Parts: sequence; C-alpha cells; structure tokens
Amino acid sequence: MYILAFLCVLWYYLLGCDFMQTPSLIEAKKRTKNKVNIRTYLKDDKYAHIGLGKKYYIKTYGCQMNVHDSENIKALLEEMSFLETDVFEDADLILLNTCAIRENAHNKVFGFLGRVKHLKSSKPVICGICGCMAQEESVVSEIKDKYKWVDIVFGTHNIDKLPEILSDSLENSMQNISVLSIEGDIVEDMPVKRDSKYKAWVNIMYGCDKFCTYCIVPYTRGKQRSRKLEDIVKEVESLVKDGYLEVTLLGQNVNAYGKDLDDDYTMSDLLESVAKTGIKRVRFVTSHPWDFDDKMIDIIAKYDNIMPYIHLPLQSGSNRILKLMGRRYTKEEYLNLFNKLKNKIPNCSITTDIIVGFPTETDSDFNETLDVVNKCQYDSAFTFIFSPRIGTPAAKMEDDITLEEKEHRLYKLNELVNEYANMNNQKYLGKVVPVLIEGTSDKEGMLMGYTDTMKLVNVRADKKYIGKIVDVRITGVKTWSLDGEI
Ligand code: SAH
Ligand code: SF4
Ligand code: F3S
Repeated sequence: MYILAFLCVLWYYLLGCDFMQTPSLIEAKKRTKNKVNIRTYLKDDKYAHIGLGKKYYIKTYGCQMNVHDSENIKALLEEMSFLETDVFEDADLILLNTCAIRENAHNKVFGFLGRVKHLKSSKPVICGICGCMAQEESVVSEIKDKYKWVDIVFGTHNIDKLPEILSDSLENSMQNISVLSIEGDIVEDMPVKRDSKYKAWVNIMYGCDKFCTYCIVPYTRGKQRSRKLEDIVKEVESLVKDGYLEVTLLGQNVNAYGKDLDDDYTMSDLLESVAKTGIKRVRFVTSHPWDFDDKMIDIIAKYDNIMPYIHLPLQSGSNRILKLMGRRYTKEEYLNLFNKLKNKIPNCSITTDIIVGFPTETDSDFNETLDVVNKCQYDSAFTFIFSPRIGTPAAKMEDDITLEEKEHRLYKLNELVNEYANMNNQKYLGKVVPVLIEGTSDKEGMLMGYTDTMKLVNVRADKKYIGKIVDVRITGVKTWSLDGEI
C-alpha cells in the first residue's frame, strides 16, 4: 500500500516535470552571438479536431505586438476547429494574452482571472495564460503555487507550439507550463486571422537589445531578431494582393532593423522596399531616437505612401535621468532629431511616450521634461508613472519620490499634453484630409477612420465608404478626435 502510494507520487512528480518548463530571469537576460534559428510553421493535422464544437475567447493586453500575436493565436485555434466568441460566458477555452510593462497590467490580469475562476465553477472551461507576463519568473511561480486551476501557460517564444501544449494538457488533465527563456527564434509562415480587412500588422523584428533600465521587454521578448527583408516584402505583397490598404511595420525599436543581420540592409532600405510594393499606406512603430538616421528621414519624405506620422518616445527631458534610464541620447540630440523630422517631412505629426517619477527625479528634472513638451508641442503623448519591474536595474534604484508627488507630476504633464493635442487638432478645422475609413464609429450613425497623420476622425458618411481612403472635410475638433464629412 505504502509502495503504491509512493509510486503514485513519483509518477505524478515525473509527469509534472514533463509539463513544467518555467522561465528563468538569468537565462532571459543572456545575449550571445549565436545565430538566430529560423523555423517554418508546419500544421500538424493530428490536432485538427481538438476544438470541434468548442468556442474560444481571447483577451489581449499590451502593445500592437501582442495584438498581432493574438491574431496568430486565433488562427492556430481555428486550425484546431475552435470557433471564436466574444461572449465570455459562452467560451470553452479562455486565453489571456498578457502584458508585463507596468504593475497595473499585472493587476488587471489577476483581476480578470477571478472572473474566469467563477465561470469555471459553473462549467468546464480551459484557462490559458500567455504573452509577456508568462515570461516572468515571479508570475509563473505565483500561478504554479496559487492558481493551480489555470490549465496552460506558454510564453512569447513558443506560440507556434500551442496545439501540442493544449493537447497535452487535455490528455493528461494537469497544469501544463511551457515557457522558454531562450534568446528567441523566428517562426515564419505562422497562420494569421487578421482583425481588419484593410489594415495589417507586419512584424519586421522581434525582441530588443536596448535594455533601458526600467524596461521588462528585453527579458520577455528575447534578443533582437530581424526578419529577412525578402520575407517581409513577400508578406506585404501578398497583403496588397488581398486588398489591404495599410501595413504597420512592428518592432520594439524599428530603427535598429537589420543591425543583427549579416546582410547589408537597414530600416531605410526596408521602408523603401515596402513603399515600392505599392501598398497605399506604410506606418511603423516604435522608433528609438538613438538609431534614427538621416537616410531614413529622407526616405520617409520621398515616398507619398510612407505616412507622415512618427511615434518618437522621449521618456524624460532631463539628461541626468536619460542617462540613468540608459536611453543613449541627450535632450539636445532628441530636439535636434525632432526639428529635422518636422523640417524635412511636410505635415508630419509626432507623438511620444513619457515616464514621470523615475527614481531620483527632482522637480528640476521634471521641469526639463515639461520644457521638451513645450518645445515639441506633441500631437499626443502616452504618459506613465514609473513602475518598478522585478529584475530590471531601475527596480533596484532608490526611489524617494512619494506617490502623491508622482501623481501630481503626471497630472501637470497631462494638462500640458492635452493643451497641445487640442491646439494641433484645431489646425485641422475646415481642412480636407485623406481618411482610411475602417468601420462604424462608437458614435451613432457615424463611421471612423484615421488620417495619414494618425488622427482619429468620426465621419458622417454612407457605409459604402468602409474600406476606402476618402477625402474628408473636418467640421469639428476635440482633444482626441476630429469630426468630419465626405
Ligand atoms: N520600444 C518602445 C516602447 C515599449 S514600452 C520604446 O523604446 O520606446 C511602451 C512605453 O511604456 C515606453 O515607451 C515607456 O514610456 C513605458 N514604460 C516601459 N517600461 C515602463 C516602466 N517600468 N514604468 C513605466 N512606464 C514604462
Ligand atoms: Fe524597452 Fe528600451 Fe527596448 Fe523600448 S528600446 S522595448 S523601452 S528596452
Ligand atoms: Fe507589454 Fe510585452 Fe508589449 S510587456 S508592451 S505586451 S512587448
């Protein structure tokens, strides 16, 4: 009897080990000169019926990269015969594609898990967690210890293995944690179920090697890996054939595109090649000011189908704080680049990201940030309070600023940002601008779309204009959107 019990425990332990691959922060930090492994996704028909008669619900947090990963995940699930539902209660499989960038992203996910647990008590539901939080050692330990009812956990490096991870978990009815802490592969030919018929996300690179001291991304997404230029162009060409009007080239630091490849091409070469496919609109995010060269500015200015819109994160206007952040540019270099962009690219709109309350930030540091905002008069800005992320250097820096002070700085910054956003939008009143109409607006009876400069416009127009780029006259202006008519 004792021997039997012992064998059972041993069996459980061994099986458990089989399905436990947890992330390690030390491994995630590593960067080698090893060649990047390029895999091609191959569909395995043995998983094709797993989801027959079942529905999936996926909730996506975080940046565009996560949104695009979810498009891949949806296609993988549909290859397994699952059908998508946007009614949470109807789902047989619930996946949370998570973001780790700030503490509040964490809290939202754990809050949502409460809802999933409640649903699981009334019917059988498979629950999965993936994305950047799943790459965090501390999060996975917490799930292992306190959320044993979560069925699968997988990371950003093995999305293509979802069919087998899910199938293993169902067969063995035990928690399957499969998270790799590798530098990262590139997986080509992943299936994709795109959210839009007109606009597409296209990854041009994965990972990040900048290691800004506050940022978790280099740990959750691995080392910088650029896709080959010909693979990207092939993808854009096929999108053009399918009737897509806009592509957004995605990377954490797109200006560093190609620097990790043996081939001799850069982001400006890639932009030019993509522009030449004839796609109507080309966008790209995110640009790091450090790698933005003159050639790239000239290419943006030269091609009408490269949109005059640049997201150029500032983070801070203080040279002392920029240095502590490891951003590798000064306030003066940033302003110089900003002015060059404004002078060389007609009608260019520029947005930014700013962090307040970075450890040791003084009033005078913060005033330097306000000074840059006053000089740049951004079209819009995403503003954040510094959030310490476990494992990053900034999390260990002494942080002596009170939360009250941080909130006060954020409030002051937002007031200024809003003022300039409104001022920039006012310039559009009465003008006629090109808008890609994407669909119906939240505003009753209206459609919505974006200008070339990335301004959201609510348009009073017939539905036949959806999926077309049309000239719209701006008739009303708000801080965050415009109103218009055809
Ligand atoms: N790759 C992009 C940004 C990725 S994260 C870049 O280099 O700019 C998006 C934004 O989140 C960052 O620009 C930064 O402003 C903010 N952010 C990142 N880590 C943060 C942290 N620990 N606390 C607060 N904001 C953070
Ligand atoms: Fe994070 Fe910096 Fe990389 Fe952007 S460039 S993803 S902020 S480490
Ligand atoms: Fe978040 Fe990961 Fe993107 S941390 S911002 S989802 S790369």
